[in-house]
Amino acid sequence: MAVEADRVISRDLLAWYDLHARTLPWRSPPSAPPPDPYAVWLSEVMLQQTTVAAVKPYYEAFLRRWPSVADLAAAEDAEVMSAWAGLGYYSRARNLLACARAIVRDHQGRFPATAAELRRLPGIGDYTAAAIAAIAFGEEVAVVDGNVERVVARLFAIDTPLPAAKPLIRARAAELTPADRPGDHAQAMMDLGATICTPRRPACAICPVRSDCAAFAAGIQEDLPVKASKGVRPHRRGFAFWVEAEGHVLLVRRPARGLLGGMRALPTSAWNDAPEMDDAPVAADWSIVEKPVRHVFTHFSLDLQVAIARATRANLAEGEWWPIATLSEAGLPTVFDKAARRAMEHRMSLTASC
Ligand code: ADE
Repeated sequence: MAVEADRVISRDLLAWYDLHARTLPWRSPPSAPPPDPYAVWLSEVMLQQTTVAAVKPYYEAFLRRWPSVADLAAAEDAEVMSAWAGLGYYSRARNLLACARAIVRDHQGRFPATAAELRRLPGIGDYTAAAIAAIAFGEEVAVVDGNVERVVARLFAIDTPLPAAKPLIRARAAELTPADRPGDHAQAMMDLGATICTPRRPACAICPVRSDCAAFAAGIQEDLPVKASKGVRPHRRGFAFWVEAEGHVLLVRRPARGLLGGMRALPTSAWNDAPEMDDAPVAADWSIVEKPVRHVFTHFSLDLQVAIARATRANLAEGEWWPIATLSEAGLPTVFDKAARRAMEHRMSLTASC
């Protein structure tokens, strides 16, 4: 921590957090003994690119099923991938398992206690390493996610566009971090960003650090942080094939490497500008559902046209026949869940019109 002004900000923020901390299942209350590092790690990995509301049920289900890092390390890959289905960004689930196994194999089942050591584990980047070290082990390190970047950019009126502003924001965030209660400070910054210092229409009237906020003083809080304009996300098209036989649907497992790697899926064509029906998994009389499923991935958006056919349950070179009645248990990622629903709606509409 650098100067008196930083100390005042952190003190006011912690006083606010003591009264207003959000109650979250992975959290210890303010000033209570720190939570289990396993719980912090699991929640932080799940919270990357995913909202608190979406994470809660997954977090609770994972902890019930795998209460310790050793339990998770011993789980079957496919079970963990299925339990993760719907949370998205599936490389996180593969890294989660790799990390649990590395902790059991190389660290006697205990999480290392510093950000520098945590950073060396699979799937743990700068942010997650700092979050675990500060929250579970009380290390004096700054924890900087998107919310915290916004709060810091406003507090210090940093108008350099992101991402160029990141090093300066990180340095300021480090200066703000107190030696005492760095984990509570980090979570107070996150809560402030999530509930008061929001991207649009921040609630400055009730902000505990308003009197120290340079952006508020200048009336520019809504203009910060400045973001460099993004390129346009490319658009792709593709087919998903719904092949149905005797109450079962054909599912495949996607290649281990690449998008949605290792997940169960409907068979698909390649996704590009001009997808081909030739990629269909069986020769059949296909009917194509008119309205495609739209899904937005990080690096492209996709219109997935659902093609439907009936077949017989022949032996397959690839894939498995999955009972349609229990399809919700197959662990399909969201894009295929949407496609399956579209196919089933289409079947229903055909039955209704007969
Ligand atoms: N987002 C990411 N980590 C969080 C945490 N520990 N508390 C609240 N929101 C978060």
